[in-house]
Amino acid sequence: MENGRHGDVLRVEGLQVRYRTPAGEAQAVRGVSFTIGRGARFGLVGESGCGKSTTANAILRLIKPPGYIAGGRVLVDGVDVLGLRDEPLRKLRWSKLALVMQGAMNSLNPVMRVGEQIADAITSHGEARPSAGELERRITRLLGAVGLPARAYRMFPHELSGGMKQRACIAMAMALEPALIVADEPTSALDVVVQRVVAQTLREVGERLGASLLLIGHDMGLQAQLVHRLGVMYAGELVEVGTVEAMFARPKHPYTQLLISSVPSLKERTLPKPIPGLPPSLVNPPAGCVFHPRCPHAMDICRAVAPAPREVGPGQVAACHLYGDDPRIGATGAAPARDAAGQTA
Ligand SMILES: Nc1ncnc2c1ncn2[C@@H]1O[C@H](COP(=O)(O)OP(=O)(O)OP(=O)(O)O)[C@@H](O)[C@H]1O
Ligand code: SF4
Ligand SMILES: [Mg+2]
Repeated sequence: MENGRHGDVLRVEGLQVRYRTPAGEAQAVRGVSFTIGRGARFGLVGESGCGKSTTANAILRLIKPPGYIAGGRVLVDGVDVLGLRDEPLRKLRWSKLALVMQGAMNSLNPVMRVGEQIADAITSHGEARPSAGELERRITRLLGAVGLPARAYRMFPHELSGGMKQRACIAMAMALEPALIVADEPTSALDVVVQRVVAQTLREVGERLGASLLLIGHDMGLQAQLVHRLGVMYAGELVEVGTVEAMFARPKHPYTQLLISSVPSLKERTLPKPIPGLPPSLVNPPAGCVFHPRCPHAMDICRAVAPAPREVGPGQVAACHLYGDDPRIGATGAAPARDAAGQTA
């Protein structure tokens, strides 16, 4: 097993999550694997319904019926989360993990002052019991770190704006100095300017604590600004992973290419371009490559054989037959994609 302090903070291996539905089992997450190193920031993107939140919830073991984890492993600091009993799981969640969700601000207790709520989280879940004075100093420091004035300590949630409330939630998530922050669309309930400020706060506070970040969201601009590596999900699968620079400059998977080109450009004044077609059924996903019904490069092999992930550049991995060496690819006569430098990928 990994040595917790030096290995990856998060290691997800072959994760599978399903939901039982009247139409059959929806395979929401289908064999997802990735790692996040200490202090690293990883973004997860993909169309609505592709399994991002399900992946995040499975990491925290928060999948509720009709959902269940059907396979795989999740290691946090080397500890197998999926195998833990309730009490050690509760401890691990509070000591190592923090979750900031979309609309987390609505989960603040409306009749409790902000400072008291953070104090509550520290005293009921922290290892040590700080004195009242020490607690107040610590919380005031936390509020300052997320850009809130010290007086926010004695304020009720309704006295704060949406952005301030979301920052209070970040302060609460940071209170126990987690090793990994899982942020699921942490800013999407806020207006655009406040979104950037809150996201920047998340980054700065995470950096100060040396915490790793798993950031889920649709906003590619925000991801580019915040994370080191980006994972692209499609229909429950992680189809490509790479550094932000590589993913924006040299996306290899056809779905990533469409996703990147769908981002509106401010410079060229373009509008968002929707990707043609619809995501497939997760109850009966297509055979072969799950993207083949929408892929502009689909070949015969794509309809029959699921592509295995393979290295397509330094630290960049994609699951696509265009980069495979299967002899059946040549037989179809399809031309392999070329990257921006004109090299055959
Ligand atoms: N409780 C549930 N019962 C049945 N199916 C579910 C349930 N929750 C999620 N799903 C299905 O699982 C798939 C993945 O959902 P998930 O919420 O993880 O997507 P997402 O990528 O987070 O989407 P979004 O960007 O809209 O938040 C979806 O197709 C969804 O319909
Ligand atoms: S494997 Fe085939 S269908 Fe799938 S993304 Fe690659 S080229 Fe397209
Ligand atoms: Mg979601």
